[in-house]
Amino acid sequence: MKEKLFTKFAELYGTAEDVRLYFSPGRVNLIGEHTDYNGGHVFPCALTIGTYGAARRREDRLIHFYSMNLNHFGVVEVSLDDLSYQDAYNWANYPLGVVWAFAQKGITLEQGFDMIIWGNIPNGSGLSSSASLEVLTGVILCDLYDIKTLNMTDLALIGQYSENNFNGCNCGIMDQFAVANGKKDNAIFLDTSDLSFEYAPIVLDGAKIIITNSKVKHSLVDSAYNTRRQECADALKALQTVVDINGLGDLDMETFEKYKSVIGDAVKEKRAKHAVAENQRTIEAVAALRANDISRFGELMNQSHISLRDDYEVSCEEIDILVDLAWNIPGVIGSRITGGGFGGCTVSIVKDEAIDTFIETIGQAYAEKVGHEAEFYTVKVGDGARRLS
Ligand code: GLA
Repeated sequence: MKEKLFTKFAELYGTAEDVRLYFSPGRVNLIGEHTDYNGGHVFPCALTIGTYGAARRREDRLIHFYSMNLNHFGVVEVSLDDLSYQDAYNWANYPLGVVWAFAQKGITLEQGFDMIIWGNIPNGSGLSSSASLEVLTGVILCDLYDIKTLNMTDLALIGQYSENNFNGCNCGIMDQFAVANGKKDNAIFLDTSDLSFEYAPIVLDGAKIIITNSKVKHSLVDSAYNTRRQECADALKALQTVVDINGLGDLDMETFEKYKSVIGDAVKEKRAKHAVAENQRTIEAVAALRANDISRFGELMNQSHISLRDDYEVSCEEIDILVDLAWNIPGVIGSRITGGGFGGCTVSIVKDEAIDTFIETIGQAYAEKVGHEAEFYTVKVGDGARRLS
């Protein structure tokens, strides 16, 4: 990878002298979906697939971005004197948004830089290619300009800030946090109410985590996402008139049942029910994993899917087909939609001896029912974003 990136770097920007190499992973969430903007818990892990970046400081005030995946956009040139969002920049609005967010936080750059990226996170798969690129850019800026005041959690928050305020998606903190703080062979048990977290080793004796990519991404994803957020915010506001809470994550099911009638809207009540139940499930799932009770973990994954499908309504036909097929295969411990929803991927825990059957059976049936092939990846859990050389 290094050679490919550096050769291209020299071709575009003169030489490859003093160029530094960086990597930032994608992520998959095991359980705890749509809880991160409700002050609940999430349980994602960083992947070994992700985004590679090569970068070097410039003497002048120009920034150059180039993607080896989207090379038809050519080199995108931006001046440090005008860090505004431009449609024409396309993908480069993500790294640019991070430069902008640094400036918003009072960290302004005097000199620009040249950057080139290449990634192997499948496009639009819901495995966080944008968060990967945001945190990658944060790591590059800190390293190139010797900025010592920001830790990895700060870089996650800056990435989220840029995505919310520069790129217009109102996402929570899970993706950037997982990408920034990932640890090999561990998932991250994160409490989004105060960003405290613990690592939990993923020990799945005789089983593996498999991601299945539906290869569909339905439009309106961002607006549906923002609507769900708003519905939860409205439900919270109503509940706060009768119970002292900061977020839906502060409630257990019993208290929710007691007070839910105050929400006064059937749809918002379902959304809030998911947020409360999913948070409780996530806490229980991590305890089960720590107690080596993988089958309980799998049951909770299945319940998570049902709740996302019926109460939160963020699944779709193609994903439900994948999950239903998975549930019917002996040796599948659990299977659910992962990420924001409306397409993207499922995550499943599958016994080693069932993996071939899983891929063959689902692959064939999905292609027959949907008309295109799914893709399968065996998960390797990797470290967070970092400089490589
Ligand atoms: C997207 C968002 C995250 C999170 C998930 C749903 O991935 O970026 O912040 O809300 O959806 O769990």
